[in-house]
This record gives sequence, structure tokens and C-alpha cells, in this order.
Amino acid sequence: MRLQQDLLEQDQLAQDQLDRASREGGAMRRAACPGSYDPPTRGHLDIIARTARQFDQVQVLVGNNRSKTGLFTPPERVELLAEACADLPGVEVQLFDGLLVDYCREHSIDCVVKGIRVAADFDYEMQMAQMNHRMTGIETVFMPAAAQWAYVSSSLVRDIARFGGEFDQFVTPEIAARTRQKLTKD
Ligand code: PNS
Repeated sequence: MRLQQDLLEQDQLAQDQLDRASREGGAMRRAACPGSYDPPTRGHLDIIARTARQFDQVQVLVGNNRSKTGLFTPPERVELLAEACADLPGVEVQLFDGLLVDYCREHSIDCVVKGIRVAADFDYEMQMAQMNHRMTGIETVFMPAAAQWAYVSSSLVRDIARFGGEFDQFVTPEIAARTRQKLTKD
């Protein structure tokens, strides 16, 4: 019932955005924010919120890779993100399989947005951006991480959490609680 309600609300939101785009005489601009998000951090949420201010619609895409070092399963990450992004207009969260460029083409996504924290991110992301561009012509936009989150990563949060350290400031209260719950269950 709740899911159906959510879907109806999402449809309405999508329609509102189409109406806005056509009133303004421009095509709707859709961006993807792909990532592993294991778990989503405040740095990720900052990039998603800032992307939502620049585009009509944002799809937050969780890669469906089944890495053994992962903490949350990809569907659990989608759940965490959907809750954390619930108040952001035009943002929806999806799981994706296969190549990012194929997903973007199939869903008429014009642009990939990636957050960049440090030089190492740039090297890694640049190669993917160029490869993706070469494959389908899709553009990637690099968004500088907010200075206050520039040193935060999911892998550091996972490590701190696993060894009982304090990580609450780097994630939402809900994600912190789910992380603790997950670690005590496993
Ligand atoms: O959190 P990450 O490591 O930045 O996420 C990486 C992700 C999932 C965005 C990336 O690995 C990806 O796009 N995977 C899908 C497969 C793909 O398209 N690979 C070719 C990249 S050139």
C-alpha cells in the first residue's frame, strides 16, 4: 500500500517536472549519481542534494555488484538512500546492473555526476568518464566534495564501525543505527 502510494507520488513528481520543463521551453535534464554507497555517507548526500539543484531529475544509481567486503546488500543500500533522499525533490533511487552507459541510454539520462574529494578520485573517475564518453557520448560532470566531507569515505566509515569507533557524524542517524544493527547481526 505504502509502495503504491510512493509510486503515485513519484509519478506526480515526474509529471510536475515534465510540465515545468515544457513551460520553460527546454527539455528535461536528467542526471545520474552512480556509486556503491556502502553505506551512503553525508558526503554522498551532499553531492546528491547539490546535483538535485542543478537538474530536473536525479537518479541515484546503486551498482548491483556483490562484493564480499560489502556491508549492506545493494537492495539494502537502495532502501537507506531512498529514506535519506525522501525530502529531495526530483530524486529517485534505483539499483542498476551491467554497464552504467546502457542504463543511462535506456533511461534518457544526459549526464553522470560524480563527487571528487582528492586527486586519487580524479584519476579513477577521469578514466571511467572518458571510457563512458567514448562508448556512448555521455558526459560526466565532476562536482567538488564539500570541504567538510572531503576526507569521508564509505570504506573508512565501515572500518570505524567494525572496530567500535564513533562514526555517527559521517552518516544520518538512521544509517548509523542500521549500520550498528547490521554489525551486531553478522
Ligand atoms: O562507489 P564507486 O566505486 O564510485 O562506484 C562505482 C560504479 C558502481 C559507479 C562503477 O563501478 C560503475 O559504473 N559500474 C558499472 C559497470 C560499468 O559501467 N563499468 C565500466 C565503467 S567505464
